[in-house]
Amino acid sequence: MKKIAFYDTKPYDKESFDAVGSDYEFDYIEAKLSAHTAALAKGCDGVCAFVNDDIDKRAIDILSENGVRIIAMRCAGYSNVDIKAAKGKITVVRVPSYSPHAVAEHAMALLLCVNRKIHKAYNRTRDFNFSINGLTGTDLYGKTVGIIGTGKIGRAFIDICKGMGMKILAYDPFPVENADFEYTELDRLLSESDVISLHCPLTSKNTRMLNKEAFSKMKKGVFLINISRGALIDTAALIDALNDGTVGAAGLDVYEEESDLFFEDFSNTVIKDDVLSLLISKPNVLLTSHQAFLTDEALSGIAETTIENLNDFFSGKPLKNEVCSK
Ligand code: NAI
Repeated sequence: MKKIAFYDTKPYDKESFDAVGSDYEFDYIEAKLSAHTAALAKGCDGVCAFVNDDIDKRAIDILSENGVRIIAMRCAGYSNVDIKAAKGKITVVRVPSYSPHAVAEHAMALLLCVNRKIHKAYNRTRDFNFSINGLTGTDLYGKTVGIIGTGKIGRAFIDICKGMGMKILAYDPFPVENADFEYTELDRLLSESDVISLHCPLTSKNTRMLNKEAFSKMKKGVFLINISRGALIDTAALIDALNDGTVGAAGLDVYEEESDLFFEDFSNTVIKDDVLSLLISKPNVLLTSHQAFLTDEALSGIAETTIENLNDFFSGKPLKNEVCSK
């Protein structure tokens, strides 16, 4: 039986992988995968990793020296894997699509919440404070939403926004043909959108694409939604834009320095990340900790595709979801 070291395990991971069932012996490890923990995979044929594992060259070398032949990412993004270092050494596969709807629906949940101030209303009514002063929102119907990235999740989000009567402006360096929405240049999207939502992967080319200059082009009071990757936004520039009112509200499921914090409980700890603390302290910022994917359907889809990827690899079949090969 092949053995797979399963890093950064949470109870819901174990449940979904055990429910699908497989011929693998999963060694469920709570620690994240990094150069410090890679040796725990000694004796395993593969590892299963997630978004905040730090799979750098050193980690890859240690895995490879210990006989690991495949890194099965149980997520779509792989910006945390040093692909250059993996090439020729270890095969990397991923789950390109599990439920784009799960992620798109969370983006809309964030937008509706920050717009109608549900996070504030929830706290008020729990305290029997039934005042609605300060909770005024705006109709989303008829407003322009700028979608950056029109792949699977961007598309699902466009459909939701269309259903709400919003006007779509989209930017993608690889636009789809015969689109039923309008593509435009990034600058026009930034300057005309009432809502901007990020749906593209993080690459070395678009890191901090929403920086001081980009914020300076935006409409006053724009709503910003990011469920993609934190480093697409320069957080310091976002804080300035929140302070001067350029950004009216932000709904964020990701944060550029999330990897040591997200998915863990720090409620009894003094967090030393002052930028994050400042962001969270703002009444018009709603932060969730990378949970946009977290639905039953998405978890089953992730487990099924990961096991299929492993089956294909170990039986020598062509790999549908290969990122790089040995
Ligand atoms: P996809 O690969 O289907 O689509 C990505 C689209 O972005 C493509 O059309 C591509 O051409 C476009 N793109 C690439 N660079 C761009 C740029 N600089 N500007 C604008 N568009 C650009 O990917 P999918 O499945 O839609 O996922 C998008 C991203 O969502 C993932 O890369 C990941 O970072 C994030 N994600 C977040 C999750 C969460 O739980 N918060 C869960 C799953 C994905």
